[in-house]
Amino acid sequence: MTNPVITALDVSDREAMRSLIKQLAPYGGIFKLGLEMFVGFGPDIVKEVIASGGKVMLDLKLHDIPNTVKKAAKNAGLLGAELLTVHASGGSAMLKAAVEGVKESGSKTKILAVTVLTSIDEETLQKELGVEKSVLEQVKSLAMIAKESGVDGVVCSPKEIKAIRECCGPDFLIVTPGIRPKWAAVNDQKRIKTPAEAIDDGANYIVVGRPITEANSPAGAMKDILKEIENR
Ligand code: C5P
Repeated sequence: MTNPVITALDVSDREAMRSLIKQLAPYGGIFKLGLEMFVGFGPDIVKEVIASGGKVMLDLKLHDIPNTVKKAAKNAGLLGAELLTVHASGGSAMLKAAVEGVKESGSKTKILAVTVLTSIDEETLQKELGVEKSVLEQVKSLAMIAKESGVDGVVCSPKEIKAIRECCGPDFLIVTPGIRPKWAAVNDQKRIKTPAEAIDDGANYIVVGRPITEANSPAGAMKDILKEIENR
């Protein structure tokens, strides 16, 4: 089984990050680097994770004019990221530009589109952002635009996995955070699923942060999650 766990490296010091990578890289999963680390430590952080044997999901959620996104995506490809995130709401021209940028870099970086942030509820979507659709309808519509633009997949909440799998087919990548094994603290996550449930629903990858990074044994937590998925 390829390891479907993407470990969210939301740590603010480099040594803590190095220690986590050392313990977890042997399991072959991907490490998610977000804006905080990328802005704080600079692009070299991506190269450092790769040099330590990890693969990188570069969670930059790019959203700009197509030409700028194309160049940023090209640079992410040159850094060697495995996965790169962009905002689907940037529209098809921007999404196609991101795909084009990665292609120009000659790398195999896959692009994932973020649909509607889970911090945006229906009221904000409709009253502030002027979108008439429900959150789920908007998520599905953006996922389909992403697919038609040549994007490889989406990042979505666990409750949207089934609907996206249904509308975007079996080859579209689905990555979902909001994952909590039964033994883990819920923290501030609201709508959670277990690793096994998310994979059963059709996710290709699950993003797991604190249940692994704050465990007494991060490698032990990773092993337990992989066992849970295998034995489902
Ligand atoms: O520690 P935890 O497992 O909650 O971390 C989940 C990771 O996924 C964090 O990096 C968080 O920012 C990200 N994320 C999320 N929920 C979303 C989108 C991203 O938890 N809707």
